Amino acid sequence: MPDDGKVTLNRRTIFSALAIGGVGALGVGGFLATENRIGPHRLTARAIIDRFQNTAGVFPGFRRNHAKGLAIEGYFESNGTGTELSRASVFEPGRYPVRGRFSLSGGNPHVADDSSVVRGLALRIDLPNSEQWRLATINLPVFLDPTPQDFYDRMLAFAADPATGKPDADRKSHYLATHPRTAAAMAITKTEPVAPTFASSTFRGLNAFEFTDTTGRTIPVRWTLIPETTATPAPGRGPDYLFDQLKMDIRAAPCRWALTIVVGVPGTDRTDDATVAWPDSRRTVTVGTLVLTGIATATADSVRETNFDPLVLPDGIAPSDDPLLAARSAAYAESFRRRSGEGDGRGAIEAGGAA
Ligand code: HEM
Repeated sequence: MPDDGKVTLNRRTIFSALAIGGVGALGVGGFLATENRIGPHRLTARAIIDRFQNTAGVFPGFRRNHAKGLAIEGYFESNGTGTELSRASVFEPGRYPVRGRFSLSGGNPHVADDSSVVRGLALRIDLPNSEQWRLATINLPVFLDPTPQDFYDRMLAFAADPATGKPDADRKSHYLATHPRTAAAMAITKTEPVAPTFASSTFRGLNAFEFTDTTGRTIPVRWTLIPETTATPAPGRGPDYLFDQLKMDIRAAPCRWALTIVVGVPGTDRTDDATVAWPDSRRTVTVGTLVLTGIATATADSVRETNFDPLVLPDGIAPSDDPLLAARSAAYAESFRRRSGEGDGRGAIEAGGAA
């Protein structure tokens, strides 16, 4: 696999991201402007996906990251409060259908569940007038890398040594010594205990976005999904214990999260660096409740065909200047392009007990 580290977020990738994104509100101009921030090495989506493959292996048909997962469905119940912050239709009071997917990070779909692995929750909220809001959130308080190049470099620095199955300790500590922002972010993540189950996990978008209200006023925001479901004890430590518990929880009763918008202070809070936490004192507004009612893998409209591109946004929500966003969009499109040419691609979890 080529993994030369110098690739370009070229127009083809950009257009394929737009095509897959389908209803994204962002224009090509926005992508091109953001592309310029990827940096002097011209890191491309292909190089990023090659590196996922080189570190985890190739599992045809599966997502190149967050490969192990389970599709779910439900709805978002908007309470109307968000209309004060953004003109996006999702904040009008009402109930909007949701498709989504819980996942574990990493490219191996057969990895054993473990509390140290980052958990993901991706959502697609269907809105009036064919708009969609796609979100991909994880259970960390901050992201570990400020730039796509750092993400790419860390993947290699933290890759398991084939001889031991673990990262090389010296290489890892050298990386952290030379990447203080990642070291600081890792220290923050250690302060937050990991919830015992998916249903009791807090999920955050981490990247900043911009909300625009009906008067044209723009504010920086981040979002957090706060669980309303209390933790149930994990059923032992089998290789799929987290997903087994999730299926039990969701079948027993709908799982609920409050969608909370954290309002940043313009000019003060960093919008271009997801490793930096905003102060706890920032205003938060709960705009509604995510209610997940069932497992959706067996349905025809499986989320396998959905690319949870974080730049698919309704009018009223726009990307910030965070350089991760354009890189994510392009990498997800490249992962989607490869996996969709390879057949089924359902995870062990998805194929197994989801029906
Ligand atoms: C430069 C940074 C990042 C890169 C290169 C990256 C790359 C990827 C790729 C390639 C996928 C598979 C996409 C697919 O095939 O559909 C993925 C999935 C995912 N990513 Fe990221 N990611 C990054 C940052 C983030 C951040 C900041 C978050 C959340 C805060 C996040 C959350 C997720 C989630 C939840 C999924 C699973 C989506 C699903 O279930 O289909 N990622 N990521």
